[in-house]
Amino acid sequence: MHTANTVTPTIIGLGSELPPPPVFNPALRRAPDRGFKLTPAQTKVALRNALRYVPAALHETLAPEFLNELKTRGRIYAYRYMPSTPLYGKPIDEYRGNCIEGKAFQVMIDNNLNPEVALYPYELVTYGETGSVCQNWLQYRIIKQYLEILTQDQTLVIESGHPLGLFPSRPDAPRVIITNALMIGMFDNQNDWEIAEQLGVANYGQMTAGGWMYIGPQGIVHGTFNTILNAGRMRLGLAPDEDLRGHLFITSGLGGMSGAQGKAIEIAGGVGIIAEVDFSRIQTRLSQGWISKMSDQLPEVFQFADVALKNKQPMAIAYHGNIVDLLEYVVKQNIPVALLSDQTSCHVPYDGGYCPQGMTFEQRTRMLAEDRSSFHAAVDTSLKRHFELIKTLTQRGTYFFDYGNAFLKAVFDAGVSEVSLNGIDEKDGFIFPSYVEDIMGPELFDYGYGPFRWVCLSGKPEDLAKTDQAAMQCINPERRGQDRDNYVWIRDAAKNKLVVGTQARILYQDAEGRVRIALRFNEMVRNGEIGPVMLGRDHHDVSGTDSPFRETANIKDGSNVMADMATQCFAGNAARGMSLVALHNGGGVGIGKAINGGFGLVLDGSQRIDAIIRSAMLWDVMGGVARRSWARNPNSMDTIREFNRDQAGKAHVILPHLVDDGLVDRLVGSL
Ligand SMILES: NC(=O)c1ccc[n+]([C@@H]2O[C@H](COP(=O)([O-])OP(=O)(O)OC[C@H]3O[C@@H](n4cnc5c(N)ncnc54)[C@H](O)[C@@H]3O)[C@@H](O)[C@H]2O)c1
Repeated sequence: MHTANTVTPTIIGLGSELPPPPVFNPALRRAPDRGFKLTPAQTKVALRNALRYVPAALHETLAPEFLNELKTRGRIYAYRYMPSTPLYGKPIDEYRGNCIEGKAFQVMIDNNLNPEVALYPYELVTYGETGSVCQNWLQYRIIKQYLEILTQDQTLVIESGHPLGLFPSRPDAPRVIITNALMIGMFDNQNDWEIAEQLGVANYGQMTAGGWMYIGPQGIVHGTFNTILNAGRMRLGLAPDEDLRGHLFITSGLGGMSGAQGKAIEIAGGVGIIAEVDFSRIQTRLSQGWISKMSDQLPEVFQFADVALKNKQPMAIAYHGNIVDLLEYVVKQNIPVALLSDQTSCHVPYDGGYCPQGMTFEQRTRMLAEDRSSFHAAVDTSLKRHFELIKTLTQRGTYFFDYGNAFLKAVFDAGVSEVSLNGIDEKDGFIFPSYVEDIMGPELFDYGYGPFRWVCLSGKPEDLAKTDQAAMQCINPERRGQDRDNYVWIRDAAKNKLVVGTQARILYQDAEGRVRIALRFNEMVRNGEIGPVMLGRDHHDVSGTDSPFRETANIKDGSNVMADMATQCFAGNAARGMSLVALHNGGGVGIGKAINGGFGLVLDGSQRIDAIIRSAMLWDVMGGVARRSWARNPNSMDTIREFNRDQAGKAHVILPHLVDDGLVDRLVGSL
């Protein structure tokens, strides 16, 4: 049936009309020059690759423009094809489409590219320095055309940002299947990756940028809150019902994801000092109320902190400057620091993700464009100093944890072998824990708790309020400590003003909780209480990501070098009919260091979706718990025992037999 917003299939592709030259708002952040390093032969391929999106009549005009972009920005973004007005995720009814999913994905993509949300909107980068929806505006336009004509009997295929086409499928199959940056093993390295990106055949999807599921910095606030609060419980002796009042947390980064740190520490009751070299990012967080104070003078920063600590007042303070300078000051002044971390973009330290000590943000941007080898050397020097300062502070009692930005790996790559636990390579991890090893792995992922999220596609705040209430009613705070934390989180979510962009919510939940909440929401859609909802999760979850420096850092049976779990999760979600499935290389730790995937499920109120929730949402979590259990993680083994009991006759997971360590020691010792 055709409604006002349905679309009759037309010819897909870009027309022969040349869009006007682009106009840039100088107030918006721009991605740095990524560097141009193609040979003349490769440059020709890159140009042919970009020009194949547009009719030949336009090639004379566009070829020199594209070449100029490649040489001056290191990529072809096809700026001329970006929409003339800023994008934002509009209410779903304002989009055109032949199925609800086609319209829902347009909401998600436009939200990912909203200048209020995206890090570099003109370069299609949503977060994490390089995490992109797709490679260029040519792809964006064609993806949008496809989403407008997509029907319930088709699947759209996206390969590294390129919309390959619509293929016949069926209503119970995914409407979109996305892969990003999946490289052949022998080319899965930084150098070949950069060439592929410049050629225009590879897209860095990060996690939810290329998976179209980014919901602004709120997406990470709950995880950061859980991490620092549990770090406090573990290391500062906080009682289960105590928060971080009167304790100091120092970290860096107020960018896309790292921008959540200020909000999280305030919600956790503590005082946070966050170093940030880029003033514009501090301004963004100040204007959103996610930071309370700011100074570029270290004595003033610590005066603010002292007062707040004494009054036990929660406060997030931005230091406009380099984290290494901040730590030098802390060490020199002997200031006690309870918790310490870092969230600079160390998954891409040499691409601008880490600003070396001794240069301003602007100098860093210039040096990146003009002299990459000196920049590389400066990053290494700074990382070494950074590591030394962390070592000193940990010796004085500070608890340092790697917060999933590959910081310790970057230190190792900078030439510090003592950071490696086995002194040789990274396979056994590092001398300081990753937050997954100590906190998130055993306390959350091993039980199945992970960053479940939803977007109210109507765009109505009242729908979000209704879903918050409904989700809260689905949680029993008495069941486990984690459930109590999640209950408090969702109870206070609206008060904490977390929404940036679409009407979205993050809520850590285990398999049972996710299924219960999803079924309740779908029922509410069916009853007309709320408009349609997009369910999803961060790829940073129990099952979605194989990443030895992060999500699978607490897998100790040697399988942390394998990517079977994330791949199976993706395939299983596709088989069970999630609306969107995505699988990426890289994510939060960099190319070749992780395989990660996610899903989107559009709740339209139908019984069909109820059935998908029951099978797919359960699989999406329990596949990972099962693998963690097989790796002999105790909390996962308990969770699987419970699962086998509750699902008897419907599902079963094999449990490992534990071996007497003495037996193995005796045997191996005697060889
Ligand atoms: N733990 C998690 O769950 C998680 C989730 C998402 C992303 N990440 C990782 O965290 C990192 C940050 O992500 P993001 O989206 O915020 O990236 P981002 O690039 O938007 O922000 C990083 C910020 O660090 C600042 N910075 C860089 N070097 C600095 C220095 N020496 N001193 C002070 N400030 C400095 C930059 O100016 C930038 O604003 C990435 O590596 C990302 O992959 C972790």
